[in-house]
This record gives sequence, structure tokens and C-alpha cells, in this order.
Amino acid sequence: MASIESISKNLSWLPKPVARFFEKRMKNIPAVQKMVEKENDKLQATLEHSLKPYRGKYDSYAKLPASGLERDKILADIQKMHDQEIGTWEEGFVSGGIYNGNKEHIDFLNKVYALNSQSNPLHSDLFPSATKFEAEIISMVANMMGQGRTPDGAEIVGSVSSGGTESILLAMKTYRDRAREEKGITAPEMILCDSAHTAFDKASHYFGIKQVRIPMKADYSIDVDAARRAINKNTIVMVGSAPTFPHGIIDDIKALSDIALEHGIGFHTDSCLGGFITPFAEKLGYPVPIVDFRLPGVTSMSADTHKYGYAAKGTSVVLYRSAALRHYQYYTTTEWPGGLYFSPTIAGSRPGALSATCWAAMLSMGEDGYLRATKAIMETADVFRKGIQSIPELEIMGNPLWIFAIKSKDESMNIYEVLDQMSKRRWSLNGLHKPSCFHIALTLRHTQPGVAERFIKDLQESVAYVKTNPGSQEGLAPVYGLAATLPFRGMVSDILKKYLDVVYQV
Ligand SMILES: Cc1ncc(COP(=O)(O)O)c(C=O)c1O
Repeated sequence: MASIESISKNLSWLPKPVARFFEKRMKNIPAVQKMVEKENDKLQATLEHSLKPYRGKYDSYAKLPASGLERDKILADIQKMHDQEIGTWEEGFVSGGIYNGNKEHIDFLNKVYALNSQSNPLHSDLFPSATKFEAEIISMVANMMGQGRTPDGAEIVGSVSSGGTESILLAMKTYRDRAREEKGITAPEMILCDSAHTAFDKASHYFGIKQVRIPMKADYSIDVDAARRAINKNTIVMVGSAPTFPHGIIDDIKALSDIALEHGIGFHTDSCLGGFITPFAEKLGYPVPIVDFRLPGVTSMSADTHKYGYAAKGTSVVLYRSAALRHYQYYTTTEWPGGLYFSPTIAGSRPGALSATCWAAMLSMGEDGYLRATKAIMETADVFRKGIQSIPELEIMGNPLWIFAIKSKDESMNIYEVLDQMSKRRWSLNGLHKPSCFHIALTLRHTQPGVAERFIKDLQESVAYVKTNPGSQEGLAPVYGLAATLPFRGMVSDILKKYLDVVYQV
């Protein structure tokens, strides 16, 4: 029986619809099902260890303990797991993930969290502090993104959400509802680059908005002309990233938002990743284009406070060019026996403590703190850039500022094997595909002395190892390779769902 790899190689030339046709039929053939199961078992075995390292080492609880445990015992277990997990990110081995990580900063945020752990912005009468925190967070971010007002004098407004994905979901739902009400559009479409974050894909699925994905140009930014050509009577919004998650590239936001304005459609700048870097990098004199409300066509933005805003995990801000637009985001209900109900975002009850922590993080950083942090990251990026460029087998993709996607210059070297070697040296980097590469998003963790030098040394050693020992069948390299090339995307999707099932196993 042929392996999935060989079938994949033989069929990878098939156009997508034909591959999907074959896939549907092949899925029902028992031999193929068996083969997929085998691949799946291989993957699960590889992942099991990293997903469930505590199995057998700690008590596990599939059911409630019959009587409550001592708090000391619970705390001791949590402390032990925390101590085991902290090293990798604290020492700067992780791409993105933990953006600040300074101990005093974390201790301060934890104090703020503790004081607010019962707070819920849904009950603004009980917790007016949460309302104050959120209004001020939004205003502070709006001021970073265009002095709080658009050039024509309108107030920039927004909401605090639970993260980048929710900010994006909210913005897309807003455009869908506006287009339905104001233009009668019932088959809405959004235009965005292949590289735009997959949260837009989620929005497409959740809210029934067709995605029109535009290819990247050779510099990994969106093909603006193709985006323009994709506009039709059902287009409700166009999206640009500042920067993109995979390659750290800032799309041509000015050109895109001008086109959107010309056609009377919305334009969303996804600054989830860059919202707390680009405004400060611009002030520091780095070559950063304008991506915010100073551009007349930009009608909404997302900026993540829980990334480079250095708040605890669980907050982001979505901003709109006008209060009228934000109204399409809100949810209100007037006929429910539970009373009049209104909530601005997707959740009902929300963690006020996270908003308090976000507010406190922003106040304690201040403009000077964000400028210092951005300068440190940009200077560290120079060391990374030069070091990566000094390795002849590798190539940095496009011209990014602080997120480096790295590919093999010569396709004969499998970049995923290099990634595996980096993992063996403790690095936790992101494997990407289409095209095959991996990336590192620099954070304050990487600005610590010696981290950049260690990365470059480990990268040099990893490349040298793969050159002399190519074709590894260990680690995740074969899995990444397969996932990148398998024409049967439904099968890849099924494997990912099984992965999630494992996540939920006790
Ligand atoms: C550009 C971009 N947009 C959106 C998101 C989604 O953010 P979150 O993971 O907070 O939902 C990310 C996450 O990395 C991102 O990089």
C-alpha cells in the first residue's frame, strides 16, 4: 500500500476542486481510512509526549474529588507545573507568546488581578471601576492610532475584547450587519491576502462572509491590483495587516484603504501584532508607513494589548472610525424574560480583572516605556537580521522589521529539519507553510543579553547538522512536510481535530 506521502506527491498537481472530488470518494475506501488512521496514530504518538508531559507525574482528576483538597496541596501542584514551564519562555527561547515576561512587571499585574478577580463589566453598576478602565484603555489606544480623532474630527471609538481573534470577529460581524442594513447585501464578501490571520477565516465561517483571498507578491505583501480587481457589489470590507503574522510584513495599507474609500466599503487594519510597536517605531524614526486612522479609508483596526501592550493574556482593542459603525457590533435584546439585556462584545460576563490588569500595564509602561521597549526590540532585530543573513543556506522572507520568517535558499535543504534541530536546542519557533518556512517574532525576552547570539549560534549549528544528516524521519519535520503538500486538505483538517481531542483527554 502506498504511503500518504507518495500519494500526496503524485496528486499534488491536481487542481483543488479535483483533489476535493477524489478525497470525498477516497475517504470511504476502507484501505484509505486505515492509512489515514495509521498516519494519525504516528502524529498522535509524536505529539502525546509534548501535550501530556504530566501524565503519571501528578494526580489527575477525571471526576470531582469526593472531598475538597487542601488549598496548600493544590497550590503546590500548580507551583511545580509553573516552575517546570517558566524556563523556556523566561530565558527567551519562544517566538512571540510571552511578550514582556519581566518578573516585577508580572508581580505587579498579578496584584492588580487579585484586587479585581470578582469584577465583571457586565455589571457596570457593581463595578464602575471596570467601566472606567475599559473606557480609558480604548481612549489611550485610539490616541496612539491617530490622536483619538480622525483628521475630519470624528471621535475614534472601540471596545475591549478577549483577544485579537475576538476583535477581528467583532469587526467583521459589524461590517456584515452594516452592509445588510444599509445596502441590503445578503451574500457578503471580504477581500484579504492569503497571509491575513486565520481569525478572518473563523469570522467567515461564523458569520457567513465569503473570503476572497488574494495572493502575496514576491515581497510577501498583498497584491494590491488583484485586491482592487476582486471588488464586486457584494464586497463589504477589505483587510490589510500591519504586520502579517507569518512573515511580519506590513501590507500597503494606504493603497488598499484608498481603494476601499473609493468604492464605499469598509477597511480594517489588522494591527493585532503591530499595534503597540508601529506607533512607537514611527516616533523612533524607523521606516514605518502610516497604517491607522490618519488614512481616510481606514474604518476599523484591531490592536492587541495582550501582545506588545504587555498586559496579561486575554485582552485586545477593536477601534472604529465612528460611533455609528460601532453600533453594528453591539448586541441588545428587549423581549427576554430575564430583562433588558445588552452587551458590546461576544461574551456575556467578562473578566473585569483582565481589563484592570490591561489598564494598569498601559499606565505603568507609559509612552516612554513603550518607546524604550520598541527601541530594544528593534535593536535586537538588527542583530538577528545580520546573523540570519550571514548563514548562506538561509533567507529572510521579504523585508520585515522584527518578525523573521526564514526559508531555505536552496530547496534541497528541508527547512523543517532545521526547525526540528532548533527545537532540540530548546527553541520554540513557529513552523509555517505555503511556502515552507519557520518564524520567530521577537519580544522583550529576546532583548536579554546573549539571547540573539545564542539563537544565531544554534541556527548555524542546526543548518550544519541538517546539511550533513539530511532526510530525518524524526520529530515534526515529516509531519510539517506532509501537512504542507497533502492535496487532501479535509484529511489534514480531520487530523487536526483529532489533535484537539487529545488536548481534552485527562
Ligand atoms: C496579525 C494577527 N492578527 C490576529 C491575531 C490573533 O490574535 P489572538 O491570538 O490574540 O486571537 C494574531 C495572533 O498572533 C496576529 O498575529
